[in-house]
Amino acid sequence: MPQHHYFHPGDNLEGLRRLDRLRITVDLLYIDPPFATNNDFLIDTDRANSVSASGKVAYSDKTRGAAYLDELRLRLRAIHNVMSPTGSVYVHIDVKMEHHVRLLMDDVFGARNFRNSITRIKCNPKNFNRYSYGNIKDTILFYSVSPARITWHPQKEPMSEAEIERLHPLIDSDGRRYTTTPLHAPGVTVDGPTGQAWRGMSPPPGRHWRYPPQKLDELDAQGMIAWSATGNPRKIRYARESGSEEAPSKLPQDVWLYKDPQRAVYPTQKNDKMLERIILTSSNHGDTVLDCYAGSGSALLQAHKLGRRFIGMDNSQPAQQVIQRRLQNHKINCAPLPHPSPAFLTSING
Ligand SMILES: C[S@@+](CC[C@H](N)C(=O)[O-])C[C@H]1O[C@@H](n2cnc3c(N)ncnc32)[C@H](O)[C@@H]1O
Repeated sequence: MPQHHYFHPGDNLEGLRRLDRLRITVDLLYIDPPFATNNDFLIDTDRANSVSASGKVAYSDKTRGAAYLDELRLRLRAIHNVMSPTGSVYVHIDVKMEHHVRLLMDDVFGARNFRNSITRIKCNPKNFNRYSYGNIKDTILFYSVSPARITWHPQKEPMSEAEIERLHPLIDSDGRRYTTTPLHAPGVTVDGPTGQAWRGMSPPPGRHWRYPPQKLDELDAQGMIAWSATGNPRKIRYARESGSEEAPSKLPQDVWLYKDPQRAVYPTQKNDKMLERIILTSSNHGDTVLDCYAGSGSALLQAHKLGRRFIGMDNSQPAQQVIQRRLQNHKINCAPLPHPSPAFLTSING
């Protein structure tokens, strides 16, 4: 873990190679590189639209085709070299480039380390007609460095009232919402107790009881089994635990609704809450988060807010100015990425 937050105001390939020489490892990477859109992204004094009508160039996104993929491949390889074995990698990309970049990711990080292709809903529905459907999504490719070991703290989300009602359509005599689920599961248990008859009932063909007979008796005694008119038992699942006021929650899925900020300080600035989810899910307190296409620095600010170390890089002067201003506003100290002198290496590695 580095001692400080670091920022490298230059080409990230140079910065990544320096990280490698410094032997600093990264626990979580989030990047949102240019998407080969053939646009210049402009910035005004304190305001940026994705492609603003006026202002200076914040960054140019005009490298395309094989040259674009070659440049990205080099950087993904350099990223791979600095990732910790339990690390996670999130690459944000648009729908036109996602399949090309996914092949690069398979090549560099390994197809077996692919975890998700997350659909991110980025904006409101668009009301134009270009002989195609409105594009309101982009993609975040999520890979791990190793197939098994991974930092993983999924952030549950509260269910809406409509979801609670849809998923728990029944109401008991105390007014509590619930649903029922089968008491048996696929697969035959030949010798174990879950394959035996319970109260004279065998599990249906090809299935076994989810619980041994004694546990089924206990559930029934606790009123947690609903019996149909034809004598079919099902497990009761309440929306809320008995006596709990807490809203039921659900595990996050691979479609995320995180629209980009309306008043961005930098073109293509990403949603803070989306970055917060990624950081909380895929890193621990004190871990090192890298964004080497930092833009507005939003990922760096979120990492700091959540008690992680950050390493940022960006070669655009306007980006560097925005990041510096935002770090100053939040009183966040950040050192330039050091050169790997022998004295420095001893100071960090002992
Ligand atoms: C899409 S923007 C990132 C926006 C950022 N995710 C945010 O939320 O503000 C891409 C950024 O990558 C930077 N960039 C592009 N190529 C780079 C390179 N080779 N080295 C460092 N930064 C680079 C650009 O200057 C630009 O700021």
